[in-house]
Amino acid sequence: MTTQLTVALGERAYPIHLGVGNVGLLGEALRVAGARGTVGLVTDTNVAALYGETVEKLVTDAGYRCVTHTMPAGEEYKRLGEIEAICGTFLEAGLDRSSMMVALGGGVVGDVAGFAASAYMRGIPFIQVPTTIVAQVDSSVGGKTGVNHPLGKNTIGAFYQPSAVIIDMELLHTLPTRELRAGMAEVIKHGVIADADLFDYTEKNAEAILNKELAALERPIRRSCEIKSAVVAEDETEQGLRAILNYGHTFGHAIEAVTHYEVYLHGEAVSLGMCAAGALAQQLGMVDSDFVARQEACCVAYGLPVRWPELPVDEAVTAMRKDKKARTGSMKFILPEGMGKVVQRTDVTEEQARAAFEAIRH
Ligand code: NAD
Ligand code: GLY
Repeated sequence: MTTQLTVALGERAYPIHLGVGNVGLLGEALRVAGARGTVGLVTDTNVAALYGETVEKLVTDAGYRCVTHTMPAGEEYKRLGEIEAICGTFLEAGLDRSSMMVALGGGVVGDVAGFAASAYMRGIPFIQVPTTIVAQVDSSVGGKTGVNHPLGKNTIGAFYQPSAVIIDMELLHTLPTRELRAGMAEVIKHGVIADADLFDYTEKNAEAILNKELAALERPIRRSCEIKSAVVAEDETEQGLRAILNYGHTFGHAIEAVTHYEVYLHGEAVSLGMCAAGALAQQLGMVDSDFVARQEACCVAYGLPVRWPELPVDEAVTAMRKDKKARTGSMKFILPEGMGKVVQRTDVTEEQARAAFEAIRH
């Protein structure tokens, strides 16, 4: 069975198809999206080995020529050079303005392929087929695409919406456990920012979710997509509301930066970041210690880190200041007021942010 959600963006609205074994919808989705010529499939080495042939066959069975570009797996390949490589493969194969791209993979493939689609021949449509939890609950929806620069993560990119998102939960069977756990940090985030019931459910069903019971995974994935779609429909280019999706990311990005992206997966850094944000909110009198303990216990239930004893506080504060100022021009924090509700605060001092980092060191 497939559930269909919609990202309501007027004439750029698109469907999210969520189900089990529903990757077979790809041929029809290509047709509905108006594909006429060749389809450029972008994937990475790990995903290609698992699902590349199946997806290529779905494309060719639907009557399209399929040209595949397989990029090396890993965050370090989320870089401008890969955009050039993808365009090179597709130019050589003769893809033109009537062509369409398909991103088959995790958030790295989705972000890179989406950005390549935004630029190839000044923009051709693309479809997201996400294969990690991070990608299924977050990155495939909402149109943020791009690559990293040595001077900053996600600093080169475009808002470019896909024509459709096909989420097949069956593809998660092969996902390594650490990646599954890290992805659940984004689900916990969605619960804290917008849906106390989702948090409650996520908290109570950790065992079934970590066992990849698809019946248990459906609700967190669906609710995450609903929450993200609603936010994006209201504020596509992050003029205001969309910033709530960055809960835990202000501290998390600083942690990723000081570890040079080599110690923690993105979701693990977000877990630490949410704990720091909780500590900051408690310091400001916005939530009590029960809230902080509950959020932390949920992260622990998913095997996510909640303390980093070696955290270099000075370095992290500097990285956060640089990142925040570069991205938003000032120090803005998304902080909880209770389960399911966050607000933006612009009055946080550097000393208070420092104390929050200290809180997750002990
Ligand atoms: P990833 O894309 O690197 O995938 C993680 C690993 O899992 C990779 O080694 C990949 O090859 C492998 N993999 C993927 N699917 C698999 C499967 N089904 N079975 C086995 N292995 C599989 O990482 P990710 O966590 O999916 O994405 C992280 C990226 O997403 C970061 O670059 C982050 O910035 C970005 N992101 C973007 C947004 C957005 O809104 N655009 C939101 C959140 C995260
Ligand atoms: N992942 C944050 C956003 O899409 O805005």
